[in-house]
Amino acid sequence: MDAHKQLTIGLFGFGVVGEGLYKVLQQTPSLKATLKKVCIKNPEKKRNAPADLFTTDKNILLNDPEINVIVEVIDDADAAFKIVSKALKNKKDVVSASKKMIAEHLPALLKLQEETGHSLLYESAACASIPVIRNLEEYYDNDLLHSIKAIVNGSTNFILTKMFEDKLDFRDALLLAQQLGFAESNPKLDVEGYDANNKWTFLLTHAYGIIESPENLLFSGIQNISADDARVAKEKNFDIKLVAQAKKLNNGKVAAFVLPQFIKHDDHLAFVKNEYNGVVIESGFADKQFFYGKGAGSFPTASAVLSDISALRYQYKYEYKKLYHHKPHELGDDFYLRVYVSFDDLKFVPREKFEWIEEWHAGEQKKYLVGVISYKELKDNNWWRKHNTSLILFPDPVIENVEIRGLKKKSLELAGLI
Ligand code: HSE
Repeated sequence: MDAHKQLTIGLFGFGVVGEGLYKVLQQTPSLKATLKKVCIKNPEKKRNAPADLFTTDKNILLNDPEINVIVEVIDDADAAFKIVSKALKNKKDVVSASKKMIAEHLPALLKLQEETGHSLLYESAACASIPVIRNLEEYYDNDLLHSIKAIVNGSTNFILTKMFEDKLDFRDALLLAQQLGFAESNPKLDVEGYDANNKWTFLLTHAYGIIESPENLLFSGIQNISADDARVAKEKNFDIKLVAQAKKLNNGKVAAFVLPQFIKHDDHLAFVKNEYNGVVIESGFADKQFFYGKGAGSFPTASAVLSDISALRYQYKYEYKKLYHHKPHELGDDFYLRVYVSFDDLKFVPREKFEWIEEWHAGEQKKYLVGVISYKELKDNNWWRKHNTSLILFPDPVIENVEIRGLKKKSLELAGLI
Protein backbone atom coordinates (compact mmCIF):
# COMPACT_ATOMS: atom_id res chain seq x y z
CA MET A 1 0.00 0.00 0.00
CA ASP A 2 1.67 3.27 -0.94
CA ALA A 3 1.55 6.27 1.35
CA HIS A 4 -0.88 8.20 -0.85
CA LYS A 5 -3.26 5.40 -1.42
CA GLN A 6 -6.80 5.80 -0.20
CA LEU A 7 -7.66 3.57 2.75
CA THR A 8 -10.99 1.83 2.40
CA ILE A 9 -12.17 0.43 5.70
CA GLY A 10 -14.48 -2.42 6.58
CA LEU A 11 -15.47 -2.11 10.24
CA PHE A 12 -16.63 -4.96 12.47
CA GLY A 13 -18.62 -3.78 15.49
CA PHE A 14 -20.54 -0.59 16.20
CA GLY A 15 -20.56 -0.51 19.99
CA VAL A 16 -18.78 1.99 22.24
CA VAL A 17 -15.54 1.86 20.24
CA GLY A 18 -17.01 1.30 16.76
CA GLU A 19 -19.38 4.22 16.96
CA GLY A 20 -16.61 6.34 18.47
CA LEU A 21 -14.42 5.53 15.51
CA TYR A 22 -17.21 6.39 13.08
CA LYS A 23 -17.49 9.87 14.62
CA VAL A 24 -13.73 10.34 14.86
CA LEU A 25 -13.28 9.41 11.17
CA GLN A 26 -15.90 11.96 10.19
CA GLN A 27 -13.91 14.61 12.01
CA THR A 28 -10.61 13.62 10.42
CA PRO A 29 -11.00 14.18 6.66
CA SER A 30 -7.26 14.68 6.27
CA LEU A 31 -6.74 10.96 6.87
CA LYS A 32 -8.23 10.09 3.47
CA ALA A 33 -9.93 7.00 4.83
CA THR A 34 -13.38 5.93 3.74
CA LEU A 35 -15.57 3.72 5.84
CA LYS A 36 -17.24 1.51 3.25
CA LYS A 37 -19.23 -1.01 5.31
CA VAL A 38 -19.89 -1.90 8.93
CA CYS A 39 -20.68 -5.47 9.93
CA ILE A 40 -22.92 -5.78 12.99
CA LYS A 41 -24.52 -8.68 14.84
CA ASN A 42 -27.90 -7.21 15.69
CA PRO A 43 -29.68 -5.46 12.76
CA GLU A 44 -32.63 -4.45 14.96
CA LYS A 45 -30.64 -2.06 17.12
CA LYS A 46 -31.02 1.63 16.32
CA ARG A 47 -27.71 3.09 15.02
CA ASN A 48 -26.63 6.69 14.59
CA ALA A 49 -25.47 6.21 11.01
CA PRO A 50 -27.10 5.65 7.57
CA ALA A 51 -28.78 2.24 7.36
CA ASP A 52 -27.07 1.31 4.06
CA LEU A 53 -23.70 1.38 5.82
CA PHE A 54 -24.57 -1.77 7.76
CA THR A 55 -24.64 -5.44 6.97
CA THR A 56 -24.74 -8.64 9.00
CA ASP A 57 -22.80 -10.60 6.39
CA LYS A 58 -19.12 -10.65 7.27
CA ASN A 59 -18.11 -11.89 3.83
CA ILE A 60 -19.33 -8.68 2.20
CA LEU A 61 -16.44 -6.98 3.97
CA LEU A 62 -13.89 -9.78 3.95
CA ASN A 63 -14.30 -10.53 0.24
CA ASP A 64 -14.52 -6.96 -1.03
CA PRO A 65 -11.28 -6.31 -2.97
CA GLU A 66 -11.70 -2.57 -2.56
CA ILE A 67 -11.58 -2.82 1.24
CA ASN A 68 -7.91 -2.82 2.17
CA VAL A 69 -8.22 -2.33 5.92
CA ILE A 70 -10.35 -4.34 8.32
CA VAL A 71 -10.97 -2.72 11.69
CA GLU A 72 -12.29 -5.18 14.23
CA VAL A 73 -13.73 -3.88 17.51
CA ILE A 74 -16.17 -6.60 18.58
CA ASP A 75 -16.18 -8.21 22.00
CA ASP A 76 -16.48 -11.89 21.05
CA ALA A 77 -12.89 -13.13 21.10
CA ASP A 78 -13.51 -16.31 19.08
CA ALA A 79 -15.44 -14.52 16.34
CA ALA A 80 -12.80 -11.77 16.33
CA PHE A 81 -10.02 -14.31 15.77
CA LYS A 82 -11.84 -15.80 12.78
CA ILE A 83 -12.40 -12.35 11.27
CA VAL A 84 -8.82 -11.23 11.79
CA SER A 85 -7.37 -14.48 10.40
CA LYS A 86 -9.56 -14.36 7.32
CA ALA A 87 -8.81 -10.68 6.72
CA LEU A 88 -5.04 -11.24 6.86
CA LYS A 89 -5.33 -14.25 4.56
CA ASN A 90 -7.40 -12.13 2.15
CA LYS A 91 -4.48 -9.69 1.97
CA LYS A 92 -5.94 -6.94 4.10
CA ASP A 93 -4.23 -5.04 6.88
CA VAL A 94 -5.99 -5.27 10.21
CA VAL A 95 -6.52 -3.03 13.22
CA SER A 96 -8.00 -4.74 16.27
CA ALA A 97 -9.04 -3.67 19.76
CA SER A 98 -9.79 -7.20 21.03
CA LYS A 99 -7.55 -7.71 24.03
CA LYS A 100 -8.78 -11.18 24.89
CA MET A 101 -8.45 -12.40 21.32
CA ILE A 102 -4.90 -11.08 20.97
CA ALA A 103 -3.78 -12.49 24.33
CA GLU A 104 -5.27 -15.92 23.65
CA HIS A 105 -4.11 -16.26 20.04
CA LEU A 106 -0.82 -14.42 19.89
CA PRO A 107 1.31 -17.32 18.54
CA ALA A 108 -1.20 -17.92 15.71
CA LEU A 109 -1.43 -14.20 14.99
CA LEU A 110 2.36 -13.93 14.79
CA LYS A 111 2.42 -16.78 12.31
CA LEU A 112 -0.32 -15.24 10.20
CA GLN A 113 1.48 -11.90 10.06
CA GLU A 114 4.66 -13.67 8.95
CA GLU A 115 2.92 -15.80 6.32
CA THR A 116 0.80 -13.06 4.81
CA GLY A 117 3.18 -10.12 5.20
CA HIS A 118 0.20 -8.03 6.25
CA SER A 119 0.06 -5.83 9.27
CA LEU A 120 -1.94 -6.36 12.46
CA LEU A 121 -1.96 -3.35 14.78
CA TYR A 122 -3.66 -3.21 18.18
CA GLU A 123 -2.48 -0.19 20.13
CA SER A 124 -5.98 0.54 21.43
CA ALA A 125 -6.12 -2.91 23.03
CA ALA A 126 -3.38 -2.11 25.55
CA CYS A 127 -3.94 1.22 27.33
CA ALA A 128 -6.45 2.81 24.95
CA SER A 129 -5.16 6.33 24.32
CA ILE A 130 -1.57 5.77 25.58
CA PRO A 131 0.78 4.69 22.76
CA VAL A 132 2.55 2.14 24.90
CA ILE A 133 3.01 -0.70 22.39
CA ARG A 134 4.70 1.49 19.84
CA ASN A 135 6.96 2.92 22.50
CA LEU A 136 7.96 -0.48 23.82
CA GLU A 137 8.54 -1.71 20.27
CA GLU A 138 10.51 1.21 18.98
CA TYR A 139 12.20 2.93 21.83
CA TYR A 140 13.45 0.63 24.54
CA ASP A 141 16.36 -1.60 23.88
CA ASN A 142 15.99 -4.97 25.54
CA ASP A 143 18.90 -4.75 27.94
CA LEU A 144 17.89 -1.35 29.21
CA LEU A 145 14.31 -2.09 30.15
CA HIS A 146 14.60 -2.85 33.86
CA SER A 147 10.96 -2.80 34.88
CA ILE A 148 7.46 -1.71 33.95
CA LYS A 149 4.67 -1.04 36.37
CA ALA A 150 1.27 -0.10 35.00
CA ILE A 151 -2.40 0.46 35.52
CA VAL A 152 -3.90 -1.09 32.41
CA ASN A 153 -7.58 -1.45 33.28
CA GLY A 154 -9.67 1.69 33.41
CA SER A 155 -12.79 0.18 34.97
CA THR A 156 -11.14 -1.24 38.08
CA ASN A 157 -9.18 1.96 38.58
CA PHE A 158 -12.42 3.91 38.21
CA ILE A 159 -14.19 1.64 40.72
CA LEU A 160 -11.37 1.90 43.28
CA THR A 161 -11.28 5.69 42.93
CA LYS A 162 -15.04 6.00 43.34
CA MET A 163 -15.11 3.59 46.30
CA PHE A 164 -12.25 5.06 48.27
CA GLU A 165 -12.42 8.74 47.37
CA ASP A 166 -16.13 9.30 46.76
CA LYS A 167 -17.34 6.56 49.16
CA LEU A 168 -19.54 4.92 46.54
CA ASP A 169 -20.21 1.25 47.15
CA PHE A 170 -18.80 -1.34 44.78
CA ARG A 171 -22.08 -2.04 42.91
CA ASP A 172 -22.79 1.64 42.25
CA ALA A 173 -19.22 2.29 41.12
CA LEU A 174 -19.37 -0.65 38.72
CA LEU A 175 -22.74 0.45 37.38
CA LEU A 176 -21.31 3.89 36.66
CA ALA A 177 -18.30 2.35 34.89
CA GLN A 178 -20.73 0.36 32.75
CA GLN A 179 -22.90 3.37 31.97
CA LEU A 180 -19.87 5.39 30.92
CA GLY A 181 -18.80 2.65 28.51
CA PHE A 182 -15.59 1.69 30.34
CA ALA A 183 -16.47 -1.84 31.43
CA GLU A 184 -16.46 -4.99 29.30
CA SER A 185 -19.87 -6.46 28.35
CA ASN A 186 -19.03 -9.09 30.95
CA PRO A 187 -17.66 -6.90 33.77
CA LYS A 188 -16.21 -9.96 35.51
CA LEU A 189 -13.38 -9.63 32.98
CA ASP A 190 -12.51 -6.25 34.47
CA VAL A 191 -13.25 -6.86 38.13
CA GLU A 192 -11.48 -10.22 38.41
CA GLY A 193 -8.37 -9.07 36.55
CA TYR A 194 -8.79 -11.00 33.29
CA ASP A 195 -8.76 -7.91 31.12
CA ALA A 196 -5.63 -6.46 32.76
CA ASN A 197 -3.94 -9.83 32.54
CA ASN A 198 -4.81 -10.20 28.85
CA LYS A 199 -3.26 -6.81 28.16
CA TRP A 200 -0.20 -7.68 30.21
CA THR A 201 0.25 -10.88 28.21
CA PHE A 202 0.94 -9.07 24.95
CA LEU A 203 2.63 -6.06 26.54
CA LEU A 204 5.20 -8.56 27.86
CA THR A 205 5.75 -9.66 24.26
CA HIS A 206 6.46 -6.12 23.10
CA ALA A 207 8.55 -5.30 26.17
CA TYR A 208 10.55 -8.48 26.61
CA GLY A 209 9.74 -10.90 23.78
CA ILE A 210 7.88 -13.16 26.22
CA ILE A 211 5.16 -15.34 24.71
CA GLU A 212 2.99 -16.82 27.40
CA SER A 213 -0.66 -17.74 27.50
CA PRO A 214 -2.67 -15.53 29.86
CA GLU A 215 -3.62 -18.35 32.22
CA ASN A 216 0.06 -18.95 32.96
CA LEU A 217 0.49 -15.54 34.54
CA LEU A 218 -0.18 -14.87 38.21
CA PHE A 219 -3.11 -12.49 38.39
CA SER A 220 -6.08 -11.41 40.41
CA GLY A 221 -8.53 -8.52 40.32
CA ILE A 222 -10.14 -6.30 42.92
CA GLN A 223 -13.00 -8.67 43.77
CA ASN A 224 -11.82 -9.32 47.33
CA ILE A 225 -10.73 -5.82 48.31
CA SER A 226 -12.88 -4.64 51.22
CA ALA A 227 -13.51 -1.44 53.15
CA ASP A 228 -11.29 -2.91 55.91
CA ASP A 229 -8.42 -3.22 53.46
CA ALA A 230 -8.97 0.39 52.41
CA ARG A 231 -8.84 1.44 56.07
CA VAL A 232 -5.49 -0.32 56.58
CA ALA A 233 -4.18 1.25 53.36
CA LYS A 234 -5.17 4.68 54.65
CA GLU A 235 -3.48 4.09 58.02
CA LYS A 236 -0.31 3.18 56.18
CA ASN A 237 -0.59 6.15 53.81
CA PHE A 238 -1.15 4.03 50.73
CA ASP A 239 -3.70 3.89 47.90
CA ILE A 240 -4.83 0.55 46.49
CA LYS A 241 -4.53 0.03 42.71
CA LEU A 242 -4.68 -2.96 40.41
CA VAL A 243 -1.12 -3.03 39.09
CA ALA A 244 0.50 -5.03 36.31
CA GLN A 245 4.20 -5.35 36.90
CA ALA A 246 7.28 -6.84 35.25
CA LYS A 247 10.80 -6.68 36.59
CA LYS A 248 14.04 -8.12 35.36
CA LEU A 249 15.54 -10.46 37.94
CA ASN A 250 19.24 -10.89 38.69
CA ASN A 251 19.15 -14.25 36.91
CA GLY A 252 18.09 -12.53 33.67
CA LYS A 253 14.52 -13.79 33.76
CA VAL A 254 11.47 -11.58 34.22
CA ALA A 255 9.12 -11.54 37.20
CA ALA A 256 5.61 -10.66 36.00
CA PHE A 257 2.18 -10.54 37.62
CA VAL A 258 -1.05 -8.54 37.84
CA LEU A 259 -2.24 -8.04 41.43
CA PRO A 260 -3.72 -5.36 43.68
CA GLN A 261 -0.93 -3.29 45.16
CA PHE A 262 -0.43 -0.64 47.84
CA ILE A 263 0.80 2.53 46.19
CA LYS A 264 2.66 5.29 48.01
CA HIS A 265 1.19 8.76 47.63
CA ASP A 266 4.31 10.03 45.87
CA ASP A 267 4.33 7.16 43.34
CA HIS A 268 3.48 8.17 39.78
CA LEU A 269 0.65 5.65 39.77
CA ALA A 270 -1.01 7.40 42.73
CA PHE A 271 -1.73 10.19 40.27
CA VAL A 272 -3.71 7.80 38.04
CA LYS A 273 -7.36 8.04 38.97
CA ASN A 274 -10.75 7.10 37.53
CA GLU A 275 -10.60 5.56 34.05
CA TYR A 276 -7.06 6.76 33.41
CA ASN A 277 -4.20 4.35 32.84
CA GLY A 278 -0.55 4.93 33.63
CA VAL A 279 2.71 3.21 32.80
CA VAL A 280 5.98 3.72 34.66
CA ILE A 281 8.99 2.44 32.79
CA GLU A 282 12.35 2.13 34.47
CA SER A 283 15.20 1.91 32.06
CA GLY A 284 18.97 2.12 32.17
CA PHE A 285 20.37 5.68 32.15
CA ALA A 286 16.93 7.30 31.61
CA ASP A 287 15.65 6.18 35.03
CA LYS A 288 11.86 6.51 35.37
CA GLN A 289 9.46 7.64 32.67
CA PHE A 290 5.73 7.98 33.10
CA PHE A 291 3.02 7.63 30.46
CA TYR A 292 -0.45 8.75 31.37
CA GLY A 293 -3.79 8.94 29.57
CA LYS A 294 -7.35 7.74 29.33
CA GLY A 295 -7.47 3.95 29.38
CA ALA A 296 -11.09 3.33 28.46
CA GLY A 297 -14.05 4.98 26.79
CA SER A 298 -15.28 5.62 23.31
CA PHE A 299 -13.10 8.46 21.98
CA PRO A 300 -9.83 7.64 23.80
CA THR A 301 -9.99 4.09 22.42
CA ALA A 302 -11.08 5.28 18.98
CA SER A 303 -8.15 7.71 18.93
CA ALA A 304 -5.69 4.83 19.18
CA VAL A 305 -7.56 2.87 16.49
CA LEU A 306 -7.38 5.96 14.29
CA SER A 307 -3.66 6.26 14.89
CA ASP A 308 -3.18 2.62 13.86
CA ILE A 309 -5.24 3.17 10.70
CA SER A 310 -3.14 6.20 9.93
CA ALA A 311 0.10 4.22 10.48
CA LEU A 312 -1.05 1.72 7.83
CA ARG A 313 -0.64 4.48 5.26
CA TYR A 314 3.09 4.18 5.64
CA GLN A 315 3.08 0.37 5.91
CA TYR A 316 3.79 0.33 9.63
CA LYS A 317 4.11 -3.17 11.11
CA TYR A 318 5.10 -4.41 14.52
CA GLU A 319 8.47 -6.00 14.09
CA TYR A 320 8.28 -7.78 17.45
CA LYS A 321 11.87 -6.71 17.89
CA LYS A 322 12.33 -8.21 21.34
CA LEU A 323 11.18 -11.55 20.04
CA TYR A 324 12.85 -11.73 16.65
CA HIS A 325 15.85 -9.39 16.85
CA HIS A 326 16.94 -9.85 20.46
CA LYS A 327 17.23 -12.86 22.68
CA PRO A 328 13.68 -13.16 24.07
CA HIS A 329 13.35 -13.20 27.83
CA GLU A 330 11.67 -15.91 29.85
CA LEU A 331 9.35 -15.60 32.79
CA GLY A 332 11.06 -16.36 36.09
CA ASP A 333 9.53 -17.97 39.16
CA ASP A 334 12.42 -17.85 41.60
CA PHE A 335 11.48 -14.80 43.64
CA TYR A 336 9.42 -13.73 46.63
CA LEU A 337 6.71 -11.16 47.16
CA ARG A 338 6.04 -8.90 50.12
CA VAL A 339 2.31 -9.12 50.70
CA TYR A 340 -0.50 -7.94 52.93
CA VAL A 341 -3.10 -10.66 53.52
CA SER A 342 -6.39 -10.00 55.29
CA PHE A 343 -8.65 -12.83 56.41
CA ASP A 344 -11.66 -13.71 58.54
CA ASP A 345 -10.08 -16.64 60.32
CA LEU A 346 -6.49 -17.67 60.81
CA LYS A 347 -7.30 -21.25 59.81
CA PHE A 348 -7.64 -20.08 56.20
CA VAL A 349 -4.04 -18.81 56.06
CA PRO A 350 -1.14 -21.29 55.96
CA ARG A 351 1.35 -19.36 58.11
CA GLU A 352 4.06 -21.95 57.59
CA LYS A 353 4.12 -21.08 53.88
CA PHE A 354 5.47 -17.59 54.62
CA GLU A 355 9.20 -17.02 54.60
CA TRP A 356 8.68 -14.51 57.36
CA ILE A 357 5.88 -12.48 58.88
CA GLU A 358 6.58 -8.86 59.72
CA GLU A 359 3.26 -7.69 61.07
CA TRP A 360 0.39 -9.50 62.65
CA HIS A 361 -2.95 -7.90 63.55
CA ALA A 362 -5.66 -9.99 65.09
CA GLY A 363 -8.31 -7.36 65.86
CA GLU A 364 -12.00 -7.92 66.38
CA GLN A 365 -13.05 -7.64 62.74
CA LYS A 366 -10.94 -8.49 59.78
CA LYS A 367 -7.45 -9.65 60.66
CA TYR A 368 -4.32 -9.18 58.63
CA LEU A 369 -0.66 -9.94 58.37
CA VAL A 370 2.23 -8.60 56.35
CA GLY A 371 4.82 -11.12 55.24
CA VAL A 372 7.01 -12.50 52.51
CA ILE A 373 5.96 -15.48 50.47
CA SER A 374 7.29 -17.20 47.37
CA TYR A 375 5.77 -16.41 43.99
CA LYS A 376 5.48 -20.16 43.38
CA GLU A 377 3.29 -20.62 46.45
CA LEU A 378 0.83 -18.00 45.19
CA LYS A 379 0.97 -19.33 41.64
CA ASP A 380 0.36 -22.95 42.60
CA ASN A 381 -2.18 -22.51 45.40
CA ASN A 382 -5.54 -20.93 45.84
CA TRP A 383 -6.02 -20.32 49.55
CA TRP A 384 -5.44 -16.59 49.13
CA ARG A 385 -8.40 -16.26 46.78
CA LYS A 386 -10.93 -18.06 48.98
CA HIS A 387 -12.92 -17.51 52.21
CA ASN A 388 -13.02 -13.73 51.94
CA THR A 389 -9.23 -13.55 52.07
CA SER A 390 -7.59 -10.69 50.18
CA LEU A 391 -4.02 -10.24 49.05
CA ILE A 392 -2.40 -6.91 48.26
CA LEU A 393 1.23 -6.42 47.33
CA PHE A 394 3.43 -3.97 49.15
CA PRO A 395 5.27 -1.27 47.16
CA ASP A 396 8.42 -2.69 45.51
CA PRO A 397 7.15 -6.18 46.25
CA VAL A 398 9.78 -8.32 44.51
CA ILE A 399 12.42 -9.79 46.82
CA GLU A 400 15.30 -11.88 45.52
CA ASN A 401 17.73 -11.89 48.42
CA VAL A 402 17.24 -15.14 50.27
CA GLU A 403 19.90 -14.78 52.92
CA ILE A 404 18.12 -12.30 55.16
CA ARG A 405 15.09 -14.49 54.71
CA GLY A 406 16.68 -17.45 56.44
CA LEU A 407 17.77 -15.34 59.36
CA LYS A 408 14.36 -13.74 59.83
CA LYS A 409 12.57 -17.03 59.62
CA LYS A 410 14.86 -18.47 62.24
CA SER A 411 14.17 -15.54 64.55
CA LEU A 412 10.42 -15.97 64.17
CA GLU A 413 10.69 -19.66 64.87
CA LEU A 414 12.68 -18.89 67.98
CA ALA A 415 10.05 -16.40 69.08
CA GLY A 416 7.40 -19.09 68.58
CA LEU A 417 5.48 -17.05 66.00
CA ILE A 418 5.63 -19.63 63.23
N1 HSE B 1 -12.82 -2.60 30.03
C1 HSE B 1 -11.59 -2.02 29.64
C2 HSE B 1 -11.05 -1.19 30.77
C3 HSE B 1 -11.78 -1.19 28.41
O1 HSE B 1 -11.82 -0.85 31.66
O2 HSE B 1 -9.86 -0.87 30.78
C4 HSE B 1 -10.51 -0.69 27.79
O3 HSE B 1 -9.70 -1.74 27.37
